[in-house]
Amino acid sequence: MARMPYVAAIDQGTTSSRCIVFDESGGIVGTARREHRQRYPRPGWVEHDAAEIWANVQAVVDEATAGYDVAALGITNQRETTVVWDRATGAPVHNAIVWQDTRTEPILRTLADREDDIKRITGLPLATYFAGPKLRWLLDNVDGLRDRAGRGEVLFGTVDSWLIWKLTGRHVTDVTNASRTLLMDLRTLDWNPDLLDALGIPAAMLPEIRPSAEVYGTVRGGRMDGVPVAGALGDQQAALFGQACFQPGEGKCTYGTGSFLLVNTGATPVVSSHGLLTTVGYQVGAQPPAYALEGSIAVTGALVQWLRDNLGLIAGADEIEALAASVADNGGCYIVPAFSGLFAPHWRGDARGVIAGLTGYITKAHLARAALEASAWQTREVVEAMDADTDVALRRLRVDGGMTVNNLLMQCLSDVLDLPVVRPRVTETTCLGAAYAAGLAVGFWPDLDALRAHWRPDAQWEPTIDKARREREWTQWRKAVARTLDWV
Ligand SMILES: Nc1ncnc2c1ncn2[C@@H]1O[C@H](COP(=O)(O)OP(=O)(O)OP(=O)(O)O)[C@@H](O)[C@H]1O
Ligand SMILES: [Mg+2]
Repeated sequence: MARMPYVAAIDQGTTSSRCIVFDESGGIVGTARREHRQRYPRPGWVEHDAAEIWANVQAVVDEATAGYDVAALGITNQRETTVVWDRATGAPVHNAIVWQDTRTEPILRTLADREDDIKRITGLPLATYFAGPKLRWLLDNVDGLRDRAGRGEVLFGTVDSWLIWKLTGRHVTDVTNASRTLLMDLRTLDWNPDLLDALGIPAAMLPEIRPSAEVYGTVRGGRMDGVPVAGALGDQQAALFGQACFQPGEGKCTYGTGSFLLVNTGATPVVSSHGLLTTVGYQVGAQPPAYALEGSIAVTGALVQWLRDNLGLIAGADEIEALAASVADNGGCYIVPAFSGLFAPHWRGDARGVIAGLTGYITKAHLARAALEASAWQTREVVEAMDADTDVALRRLRVDGGMTVNNLLMQCLSDVLDLPVVRPRVTETTCLGAAYAAGLAVGFWPDLDALRAHWRPDAQWEPTIDKARREREWTQWRKAVARTLDWV
């Protein structure tokens, strides 16, 4: 039989589900995408319908792979979003609670006296971001769920786990996703019994933790029947992998709904003292894992969507660049989009967004500019934390994600960071990373060196503004951030 020449990856994201088919050189040959509904039942709550997501995933897989012989399927996903489903019927028992959701604040307060211990074990601060407390909320609030969970009748999973179960019938999760639950021990790569106990979570409902590149099972039914599901990574780890950041010190920042800067720190977890997360970067088969330090920014592209959907300032995200470029600067205006508190490096659940520096002079063009700059300033906060935590000074920043088509933003980023910014030719690095993992697991690609050889630069930006202006505006940004704190 002829060798099947393609690998497909599902990217189940916060706003949409994608499927992309890659050839052996890492080039894109087929793609499909579908958005799902964002549900905001109360201020600070965000939900998705996991059944809707599953239907969309099936549709995009069928559409993108039509006509291609696929050797393996990889999965990447919005992280931390929490699904519980019925083992017998396969139906979700409640809407999925999305990573941005802040409802678990009171649950976290009950763990406050164990914060240092939890950080040492999991690498994570106590924040509403993570999955374990979301699961606890469901156990407390869905009628009869705790009893059913104890009997193993309902199953928990992040979105990777939900999709692998739907596709193959196996209840597993990959180690990068598991590292975002507040339940996994970073060093043993297993669920921590004390933490399960502290959060009151029955072990019977948890998936088995597996490497990121491994054959988990084969697809049952449909057009993809028999295709191995052979890789899974949380979306940001997938982008790290897709950008070929395999050496300690190599990193990337992905600009989508939020933005996430990850730097590979090698074989040992580095515990941050400056507000970064310690997380698993990837694990290939039986090899030891590579760890990463992560600066997670909750809202960047989502602010552009908010200007579009909630304010009607623009009709589409692609209009923001021209609007922002119609003025020379922000006019003194700063937007800090702390919609679900502030993530890295602040971790302040009590923060809410502000628009600071408003005067009669400010136009919608200044607001557009301030919205783009918010992505750049938030990146600088994370880069400074990374510099303080490690001795690997970033010499340039590799970027990817939907916002990186915005050249004004790329220039602004380089100016604010005082670093070169480089965009690769394939900016769908999230999907690419998941495809790489699956392709490695089935021998479609031989090793990491073969993958590294695919990486090609597309464009690079150099800093242009002077130091005095950069530092003056940085001071203003930090003042604006201070004004978001202590709000709730
Ligand atoms: N030209 C543009 N300028 C600025 N922002 C843009 C532009 N085009 C798209 N965006 C923003 O990029 C984001 C989409 O990027 P991308 O598709 O990478 O997001 P994502 O985070 O992967 O989505 P998901 O959360 O579904 O995974 C949106 O928030 C959108 O507002
Ligand atoms: Mg994404």
